[in-house]
Amino acid sequence: MNLSDLIEPIADDMRALDVVIRERLDSDVVLIRTIGEYIVSGGGKRMRPALLLLVAKALGYQGSTHHLLAGVVEFIHTATLLHDDVVDDSDMRRGRQTANAVFGNAASVLVGDYLYSRSFEMMVESNSMRAMAILSGATTVIAEGEVLQLLNVHDPDVSLERYLQVVRYKTAKLFEAAAQVGAIVAGASSEQEQAMAAYGRHLGTAFQLIDDVLDYTGDADSLGKNVGDDLREGKPTLPLIRVMEVGTPEQAQLIKSAIETGEGDFDAVAEAIRQTDALAYTRQAAEAEAQLALEALAGIPAGPYQQSLLQLCHFSVTRDR
Ligand code: IPE
Ligand code: IPE
Ligand code: MG
Ligand code: MG
Repeated sequence: MNLSDLIEPIADDMRALDVVIRERLDSDVVLIRTIGEYIVSGGGKRMRPALLLLVAKALGYQGSTHHLLAGVVEFIHTATLLHDDVVDDSDMRRGRQTANAVFGNAASVLVGDYLYSRSFEMMVESNSMRAMAILSGATTVIAEGEVLQLLNVHDPDVSLERYLQVVRYKTAKLFEAAAQVGAIVAGASSEQEQAMAAYGRHLGTAFQLIDDVLDYTGDADSLGKNVGDDLREGKPTLPLIRVMEVGTPEQAQLIKSAIETGEGDFDAVAEAIRQTDALAYTRQAAEAEAQLALEALAGIPAGPYQQSLLQLCHFSVTRDR
């Protein structure tokens, strides 16, 4: 099932979100509009705002502030992508050249900053101190995650714990905040709010674990970004950590030097990954997280929104884009 079918119950809300995004991208500075438009029109799954909208609706929200807050979440996400592609020196995103490849690093960093600032203005407009606290806190944690990951690059001794901390910070935190803010805007009980935060956290963790699998197995056309980048960057992700844990000394050494140099032989590394079932292992870890996300939905009223939230758990581990 594709993502837009899966979130069909919020199709109108997703259209309203699109309007918010386009209105708020408006700036008198043409380059900001150009780059903003460029990255937004590349598509993007809009999973994080969808989460916020689905949770709000599942918990009975009737107003329209959720559209604004969903826009905040997507702007924060887009800003992290603009910055991330500079940091990772990536040249493909959403099926086209990255903004840094087309407009340069400086412009990408600055427009990323603009999107963060815009998102903070929009948060204030929402008039919800709780939502502001959660979203601004999440933005800090994402930045911490990216810096922690920077410290892990080219380090083959990164433990499972340190790897998972990066995953939770750089990716899961925004999923968590999105789901939690959906509950807050709907005026949910603190129990429901915590359950939704847990849902987002586990879903986001599963999502990033699968992203790390797809970097070895994915198809650039469906993913819209290059595969093999993690190895080239010397990133110690779970598939590699697993080979070093259970592989032969030769396999462990192969991975170790690939991480250290970022110049590993992709085919040899892929073969070591295959022989040790390291991708299946990573998938299982993602499935366990998706299962926890599913369980966190236990107290959500049954209905179409709840169904979508359930199906997103499945999507996050079976996705190919
Ligand atoms: C990309 O996120 C960054 C990661 C956390 C892996 P998405 O895969 O949600 O990116 P878009 O918005 O759909 O392009
Ligand atoms: C994505 O991280 C950016 C954030 C989550 C902040 P990655 O570098 O792992 O993801 P891609 O592969 O570029 O989308
Ligand atoms: Mg990247
Ligand atoms: Mg990165």
